[in-house]
Amino acid sequence: MDHHQTFDALTEEDQKLLALAAESLDLAYAPYSKFRVGAALRTESGQIVKGANQENASYSLCICGERVALFNKAVQYPDDSVISLAIRVSGSKPVNRPAPPCGACLQVISEFESRQNQPIRILLQGDTDEVLYFDSVRDLLPVRFDGSFLKDLS
Ligand code: THU
Repeated sequence: MDHHQTFDALTEEDQKLLALAAESLDLAYAPYSKFRVGAALRTESGQIVKGANQENASYSLCICGERVALFNKAVQYPDDSVISLAIRVSGSKPVNRPAPPCGACLQVISEFESRQNQPIRILLQGDTDEVLYFDSVRDLLPVRFDGSFLKDLS
């Protein structure tokens, strides 16, 4: 399956979500890497939640934009499902292709899909028209560790 799209070919709703992810770039705190990640998610009831990467001088404490958005949603709208997650990257220089979520974020997105028992659409864009589109984190993380391994142990 071809996961490539151009921005213009997307639905208006997806274009809007990516535009909100682009707005979120301004919320990134990335003085160390200069790599900014803006995220915006839409919930089933139409709520929008933003996120952006937040860095720290103690580098390992940096948190990715995707997780900021998802954990924000978890406390703001706990009973609402995430339908779509848009991620826009940029930097001190243009980023000429979409960037996938890191492995840790894929794992977190996977947990959200399990929790809500519903897939999350993922839209990725850099500083070009090229968009990568996935119907579920399963496309990016086909073999997953999840809570089923931890059941019935005690
Ligand atoms: N980053 C994200 O926000 N999301 C990802 O999935 C990849 C990496 C951030 C973390 C750090 O602030 C910067 O990008 C460089 O790694």
